Amino acid sequence: MSDPTTNDGAPSPATSLSADTMTVRGGVPVEGELQIRGSKNALPKMMVAALLTSEPCTLTNISALRDIEVVDELIRLTGGSVERAPDHIRITADAFTALGEVDVERLHNASRIPVLTTAVSLHRTGEAVVAAPGGCAIGPRPVDFHMSVLRALGAHDDHRDGMIHLRADRLRGARIDLPFPSVGATEQFLFASVLAEGDSELANAAIEPEILDLIAVLQKMGALISVEPNRTIRVTGVKELGGFEHRVIGDRLEAASWASLALATGGRLTVRGVQQQDMSTFLNVYRRAGGDFTIDADGRTISFRRARRMLRPLALETDVHPGFMTDWQSPFVTALTQADGVSVVHETVYEDRLGYTDALRSLGAQIQVFTECLGPTRCRFGAANHRHSAVVVGPTQLHGAELVVPDLRAGFSYVVAAAAAEGESVIHGVGLLDRGYADFRDKLTAVGVDHS
Ligand code: EPZ
Repeated sequence: MSDPTTNDGAPSPATSLSADTMTVRGGVPVEGELQIRGSKNALPKMMVAALLTSEPCTLTNISALRDIEVVDELIRLTGGSVERAPDHIRITADAFTALGEVDVERLHNASRIPVLTTAVSLHRTGEAVVAAPGGCAIGPRPVDFHMSVLRALGAHDDHRDGMIHLRADRLRGARIDLPFPSVGATEQFLFASVLAEGDSELANAAIEPEILDLIAVLQKMGALISVEPNRTIRVTGVKELGGFEHRVIGDRLEAASWASLALATGGRLTVRGVQQQDMSTFLNVYRRAGGDFTIDADGRTISFRRARRMLRPLALETDVHPGFMTDWQSPFVTALTQADGVSVVHETVYEDRLGYTDALRSLGAQIQVFTECLGPTRCRFGAANHRHSAVVVGPTQLHGAELVVPDLRAGFSYVVAAAAAEGESVIHGVGLLDRGYADFRDKLTAVGVDHS
């Protein structure tokens, strides 16, 4: 089970039980409508992109998310200005000074986003400092791919007093091959290569919709970027970049979480603000499991429901886009505890993203976790003794229990389980959910979950 006290600097649940605790009374099918806003995994990166220019940059379709506050503070500390309004964020980074070690330590421990400003700092000051990054407790989440990208583009780094100090007079184009299609390392490459001298190429790049939306922003700024059919990204560096205005892509990961809640409780939810094509793999799996959905003409309103009394078991393997996203896994697998039969799950992106199943067992779920690759792909973790596959036997009648949230998506899966269970559950550390689910409590109320 991942250690809930090591996630992203949030107060550990044990130290703030009252403020951070929610009681859920389950057994009631959810029903309602939700507006989903800008993606948690796109919006903060676009704020980082705004640091690559001194011109004003405006983002709309924004959510109130914790990572935005982290990047807002980072921009102000480095000399930029941030104008916040309910419907937009405007950033003008007309000055940029590298962060000091104390701020680097604090901000890098609070979130995975600040490490992405390393390339920006190198462009604007010729130096940068990196600390071990934060994020949820779903594995070590190193930054070695980020560092190898920056070294390939000409940065010099040395490790001292627990920090990585980098220097570069001018980043120069290079051809780089990623060992794994890392989202963060691809973003680091984009921020480094768009202003580097000459041509760059990243093979085995991540091409998630959030990455493509970030590329759209960089293109608006004047960057020269192309994505090849074989997931290679090619960039030609330019001298300078301009400002942009951009409406952030809807959060397909949040949408899938709420859809899983409807599936598990036998309810029905209408979700507005995400694009069908960004969720097509999730939608296919949803329908195979016995869920169903209707989608309106412009593909931006999806009504989810359970279409069968008993859900169907599945063999499920997570993968990079366009596969089944790892961030869809834990809430959806929680719904599979209600399927009539045996489901098999193989998590191939993170080595430790099945820790939440320990808590589901305390609610009565029948789940066994294995170190073998229980799926068609032999992944990186197969021979490394990581508990990254699971077998789920259903249907099981879940009952209330006391739970402690270890990470963002596991936390949502606890709410799914508690809402599907008979009786009352107490969930500690729910504050972590504010990192990825804007207005979380209001949305729970809007869909009829009995919580306090
Ligand atoms: C982003 O994290 C998302 N977070 C994650 O969402 C998401 O699960 C992940 O991409 C994969 O889609 C944000 O965008 C803020 P990676 P990131 O680099 O960029 C290993 C959520 O719940 N790796 O694609 O950190 C890493 O350990 C969060 O919304 C290295 O080994 O993910 C992992 O096993 C969770 N070295 C795999 O690659 C590195 O230098 C994928 O990581 C970088 C990554």
